[in-house]
Amino acid sequence: MYSRIESIGSFLPENIITNQDLEKRVDTSDEWIRTRTGIKQRSIANENQATSDLALEASREAIKKAGINPKEIDLIIVGTCTPDVATPNVGVMIQKELGLKNCPAFSIEAACSGFIYALNIANKFILSGESKCALVVGAETLSRITDWNDRNTCVLFADGGGAAILKPSETPGILYSDIGADGAYSDLLYVPYGTSRRPPSEKDNNHFLHMKGNEVFKVAVKKLESIAVNAIKRNNLSVEKIDWFVPHQANIRIIQAVARRLKMPMEKVIVTLDQHGNTSAASIPLALDVGITDGRIKKGDTILLQSFGAGFTWGTALLRL
Ligand code: ACO
Repeated sequence: MYSRIESIGSFLPENIITNQDLEKRVDTSDEWIRTRTGIKQRSIANENQATSDLALEASREAIKKAGINPKEIDLIIVGTCTPDVATPNVGVMIQKELGLKNCPAFSIEAACSGFIYALNIANKFILSGESKCALVVGAETLSRITDWNDRNTCVLFADGGGAAILKPSETPGILYSDIGADGAYSDLLYVPYGTSRRPPSEKDNNHFLHMKGNEVFKVAVKKLESIAVNAIKRNNLSVEKIDWFVPHQANIRIIQAVARRLKMPMEKVIVTLDQHGNTSAASIPLALDVGITDGRIKKGDTILLQSFGAGFTWGTALLRL
């Protein structure tokens, strides 16, 4: 028995901020952003859109594509580090809007690895028989914790939502999934203050993301290479047998460095960060949706998903669609 992704849905806010827009705000240039990160533009939520709104749109699309009645959903897990409020959690908000009752609904904080963490957990619920239809979401409004006057970070982060419907299947779906973390790196990418540590009376710089980008970069490349190699080895696969590599969309140079180390041709890598920026937990389902919708990813393809985020946290999944 396997669990299998039946469908993927995604949603991006309509409001687009280009590199040229950022040039007007901070001391940066389109050329610097493109060459150092690969990003050209990003979607940013308007002030009335919170994370649950993006998550809900993506979920509705996934439900529609799977052709299921929402009432079939018996588990909701949302990966996000930018929940609407401290409580209730984003999963419960989606549950309410979908008109569902009596199913577990929760969110998990694993930053950019949120979707893979959620997928890993939902996979276990399905394999144990406790869930027959799970809604797995990654959604963020990183714009709310981004300092728009800090050129080190504001050029990177973005908003969006992605969702998957997971069901039991007799044919292979999720072949393998592994998640991990190392809190020793927690001071390389973090928000100093927040809900319980100095809650904001007036939002200051300490309520925004802080990052030692260069150090994050180096650890990310090494860790991403090692978890990919591990996933491929443990499943007796080779890079040639992977049809598509869908990495977390943080920086094109991180993606290229990992692909180079794996000897994975860039033609097999789904890259969306030029259009999406870094949407943290939403980036993988958003990229999967793009690859499936434009016809590159086909039924039966073997796909390697991979994430790395603040904490640090990381995760991989190998799946067949
Ligand atoms: N525009 C122009 N110049 C800039 C900008 C900017 N937006 N940002 C930084 N610079 C300057 C710096 O001030 C520095 O100037 P200096 O040499 O005079 O001091 C110079 O550019 C080089 O800075 P570096 O930090 O060394 O630049 P680097 O090539 O490492 O690129 C970046 C920075 C893009 C942040 C990169 O390190 C990176 O992507 N790191 C990974 C971090 C990441 O992806 N975080 C996302 C979340 S975690 C995750 O999802 C993996």
